[in-house]
Amino acid sequence: MLSYLHSIIIFLVSSFKFISVLKEKFILKFSSMGKTGLSPLDPSSFSRPELAKVTNISINLNVNFDRKVLSGNAQLTVEKVDQSVEEVILDSIKLNISSIYDVDTKEKLKFDLSELVPEYGSKLTIQLPKEDKNNYKIGIDYETDPEATGLQWLSPKATAGKKHPYLFSQFQPTHARSVIPCQDTPGVKAPYTATISAPQEFTVLMSAIRDDTKELHNGKLSHFVQKVPMPSYLIALAVGVLDSRQIGPRSHVWCEKEIIEECAFEFANTEHQLKTAEELCGPYVWGIYDLLVLPPSFPYGGMENPCLTFVTPTLLAGDRSLANVIAHEIAHSWTGNLVTNRNFEHFWLNEGFTVFIERKIKGRLESSQSQDFDAFTELSQLNETINLMGKNNPLTQLIVDLKGVHPDDAFSIVPYEKGQTFLRYLETAVGGPSEMEPFLRYYFDTYKFQSIDTDKFKDCFLQYFNNKAIAIKDIDWQKWLYSPGMPPVIPDYDKSLALFCDELIDKFSNWNNEGPLPITLEDKSQLSTFQVIYILQKLCEKPSQQITKLQALNNIFDFDNVKNPEIKFRWFRICLKAHWEDKIDPVFNWINVIGRMKFVRPLYRDLYSWEHTKARAIENFKANRQNMMHVSAYTLAKDLHLDE
Ligand code: BES
Ligand code: ZN
Repeated sequence: MLSYLHSIIIFLVSSFKFISVLKEKFILKFSSMGKTGLSPLDPSSFSRPELAKVTNISINLNVNFDRKVLSGNAQLTVEKVDQSVEEVILDSIKLNISSIYDVDTKEKLKFDLSELVPEYGSKLTIQLPKEDKNNYKIGIDYETDPEATGLQWLSPKATAGKKHPYLFSQFQPTHARSVIPCQDTPGVKAPYTATISAPQEFTVLMSAIRDDTKELHNGKLSHFVQKVPMPSYLIALAVGVLDSRQIGPRSHVWCEKEIIEECAFEFANTEHQLKTAEELCGPYVWGIYDLLVLPPSFPYGGMENPCLTFVTPTLLAGDRSLANVIAHEIAHSWTGNLVTNRNFEHFWLNEGFTVFIERKIKGRLESSQSQDFDAFTELSQLNETINLMGKNNPLTQLIVDLKGVHPDDAFSIVPYEKGQTFLRYLETAVGGPSEMEPFLRYYFDTYKFQSIDTDKFKDCFLQYFNNKAIAIKDIDWQKWLYSPGMPPVIPDYDKSLALFCDELIDKFSNWNNEGPLPITLEDKSQLSTFQVIYILQKLCEKPSQQITKLQALNNIFDFDNVKNPEIKFRWFRICLKAHWEDKIDPVFNWINVIGRMKFVRPLYRDLYSWEHTKARAIENFKANRQNMMHVSAYTLAKDLHLDE
């Protein structure tokens, strides 16, 4: 009886152990975050690179403008990380997959495409070939959906030339999966090659080095190589009838021929900015640095696609005043493209660092006053954003929790400006730029070609400055990284360029509309573009102004006819806030042409919050949404409360 009991106990204990081991394995390998199947390492991806990872991508795609699809195949090199796994897991959104196979043996491979989770797509699980190999070459024949979220197919009328269609991509944060089946997490980096076939008259560009173009009887093939391993969100494609002009020893600007002169003028300082960035950050590893100026519907100011930054034509101010966006995208060549956030919860590592470097470039090329003036102006914008989002909103933390929150919904100025404010604070703590800048080079060198999280940065920082600076003991990392709201410490910026502006703002605010406006043409002639932007930014944040006062201001500044979109944008906001009816049509005309969300979203919000324009804003959005890129239509629908 005893021995019987004993064996039952042994059986129970061992089966319990067995179950726990199984459970552990199960949790490690197949657990997912709830029902969604998203990864515990990256809440925005289904892929599980910690089990089997993609180490090389090769795509062959044909561009079909009539059907608005890319079709062909992707060949992925896959390496098992955990030798016991039998599958590789990829991301995809609405890809029409016809077959998956072992490229070497042509053996068909079983695969499973999970149900579509809105905005995240479907988990694609592929059975790896049975034989044991160091790596597997998986071929996937497929075509994209005409509504692919990472592509915009423009009709000829949305281009400058009006004759030919145009295609461009925007993959960050998670839209690569709508064009290429891949591990769409910034935690995975791989080199890529691509062969793209397009009609004869089109130029194909990618975020890679173009190494040859072959004419075919019915089109042409363009071939690209990107040897530096990079995350999927940096793969980029543009196909249009394009012209180019050399603007530096390693740079061309690409755009439609109608605007080539303007572009060559506006971006003439690119090489200076690149050299300055190299002095600060170390060698530029990407070979060429080209710019592509897109049609106006491009949703961002700039996108740091390696070898080929994409920019909005709204940078063409005619006076090179918006070159800081180029400095920003150049800075990403180190911050983001070389050292990459492991997932978008640590997005501040990409953007906060980039703004920090962008301003250092500006400081060197202009002055330390203008470097600080930019920071100070944007701080005001940050304050406005945080008030709008709510001071306790967890999305105003530097490190955010993206479980159940799509990165497109989390996007804001916070990681940019709170991030750069933190770095500026750290810089002061360690003794200034002469201490911080060598550290930055050390940091880039330590983590180049890797994807990291904030802990890695913190370790590197503490290890580097160990014993060097006493003040680092006082840094409240927890508060900076995890508390919502404005930065805990505001640096002591040089405000000399703001003084005169503040004086003018006071004069304007105190003027009771009797007698002449106390701001003159003489005053105006002393202001730089950025000072005018600062003044308008401050007026935007004040309560609404009287229309007659604004008219008087406009008589001096002629805001209605300025080209600079940063000025136009803020002027329009002030006019809407004042309920100035004459400005409604110009606002609608502008937001129906430009797609840059930085301008379009706040203007739509303003139109929505004024009862008089609310219905028209909704109607206008509905009429134009099919001309917008997915991310714009998606976020605007939320801003206008149309998503419920
Ligand atoms: N990488 C961003 C653009 C982006 C971020 C696209 C997240 C999609 C998701 C780019 O470098 C950027 O920050 N652009 C800014 C430039 C500005 C801060 C100088 C922009 O678009 O305005
Ligand atoms: Zn950026």
